[in-house]
Amino acid sequence: MTDMTHPQTTTRSTPMPEAMRVLLQDYPRDSWQAHPGFHENTRHWLGAHQMFRQLGELVQREAETYLDKGRSDDTFAAHLSYYGDALVRNLHGHHGWEDHSYFPELCAADPRFEAGLEILEQDHADLDAVLDRFTRAANRTIQLIQLDPAAVRAEVGGLHTEAKAINAFLARHLGDEEDLAVPIILHHRLRG
Ligand SMILES: [Fe+2]
Ligand SMILES: [Fe+2]
Repeated sequence: MTDMTHPQTTTRSTPMPEAMRVLLQDYPRDSWQAHPGFHENTRHWLGAHQMFRQLGELVQREAETYLDKGRSDDTFAAHLSYYGDALVRNLHGHHGWEDHSYFPELCAADPRFEAGLEILEQDHADLDAVLDRFTRAANRTIQLIQLDPAAVRAEVGGLHTEAKAINAFLARHLGDEEDLAVPIILHHRLRG
């Protein structure tokens, strides 16, 4: 049941304003890789996003496999603790760096896009709440596997819901972020 004093964070439902997408028209996705301003660090940044998508899908699938009785308790606990921790820890590090270093650099290069960068920064704060809920559910699940195996399945249902929320969030946030940031980098030849 939703606690109305602390409403559950949901994925941003509004798309980026059209004004934030003007450079994307000049630098469409299929032109990025061949552009002379597309350098290794942008490739790595996009690669990190790909890793987050894969880890998010993996933890969601692990919960589904467990609920379908396709994983032993111990294997599930090991996978959840390894991949869940990797997902949450790397996302926190990535967002902190974007908020404090990457976004200010993009904003200084092209202040037209400040409003879009602020939307992305707010996404990070909202996603933090989802990641915290996921972390709590994962820790409870791992504890129950040790202390009360009969109660694990109910907890994994909630964990699965949180994993799906992370993936919905990432689907919205990462795509919007790439569409905003990469054209700025190419246009202003940043991070070369
Ligand atoms: Fe981000
Ligand atoms: Fe990012």
